[in-house]
Amino acid sequence: MEKQVKRIGVLTSGGDAPGMNAAVRAVVRTAICKGVECVGIRRGWNGLINSDFFPMNAGSVSHIIDKGGTILYTARSEEFREPSGRAKALDVCKLLGLDGLVAIGGDGTFRGALALSRQAAEAGHSLQVVGIPATIDNDIGCSHYTIGFDTACNTAVECIDKLRDTMQSHERCSVVEVMGRHAGYLALYVGIAVGATAVLIPERSVDFERDIAEKIRRARLAGTTHFMVVVAEGAGSAVEIGNRIREEIGLDPRVTVLGHIQRGGSPTARDRETASRMGYEAVTVLTAGRGNRIIATQDGRIVDLDMEEALQMKKSFPMDRYQILEALTSTGSRSEGD
Ligand code: F6P
Repeated sequence: MEKQVKRIGVLTSGGDAPGMNAAVRAVVRTAICKGVECVGIRRGWNGLINSDFFPMNAGSVSHIIDKGGTILYTARSEEFREPSGRAKALDVCKLLGLDGLVAIGGDGTFRGALALSRQAAEAGHSLQVVGIPATIDNDIGCSHYTIGFDTACNTAVECIDKLRDTMQSHERCSVVEVMGRHAGYLALYVGIAVGATAVLIPERSVDFERDIAEKIRRARLAGTTHFMVVVAEGAGSAVEIGNRIREEIGLDPRVTVLGHIQRGGSPTARDRETASRMGYEAVTVLTAGRGNRIIATQDGRIVDLDMEEALQMKKSFPMDRYQILEALTSTGSRSEGD
């Protein structure tokens, strides 16, 4: 007989992402709808260890669906990496009578949740966990989409569109660094969306001559007088690339590192809607007695996957889109556009 879920915790962990609040809201509202109590845990795993929690009701999550960041705060926790730290967290879960826990974050968040659930089981306590993928990098292997990616892309595109205006006026080269510590999803998606002259991603080894110099020369020969190079931070430093462009091509580029502006802002409709569906699914899975799952999107559908298996999954990088980028910018049109 499955133990009925009566009370769950919810937390956000790792790098924050626009849409996390929409997910928290959906978790709380769905729990209430299903007769389950919900406890908010502030500051991620650190907060659980330090009993930084509060009861959440429908009003706790009013007017947050459109807010960036996370009302539960987030933090990285070294202590939680150790069994002794997780034992403290477990004591708090027992004190609160938590049957389940929804963890919103990235791979590291899910690994911590799974370790906590296993440590609970070893201690004879049932704590079922469900992960909701939220990171602007979109680099979680089991899910085609992660909350925050669309908002971050739109933020970056808006910034680069503004940069293009002044680069066009001064007939300059702009080198823009976008986030993506280990992944080029942001850089490639944004690069296509702004018609970048060149895009550098960690998934493809960088050859300066092939990937930058030759593309700029070809564009210039086709009559283009301003150039946009988008670099994923995991592929290199925009400052160093700017210096090489100056030394080897003779342009005088301007370098912009977009940084943490990509992590903020009001979530787009896509992020709000996806987060709402994922939050709803997370609580539905928990109350159906299916724990230790990750909520993911696959081909536009919301699915729940075994957490251990999901953490081993890899998704193939859409390198075919790199070819599209090259085709659309290699001719270098004379038009005022890209
Ligand atoms: O959330 C992912 C991410 O934004 C990466 O793209 C970036 O490199 C990293 O977080 C920055 O981490 P922090 O906010 O700890 O500086």
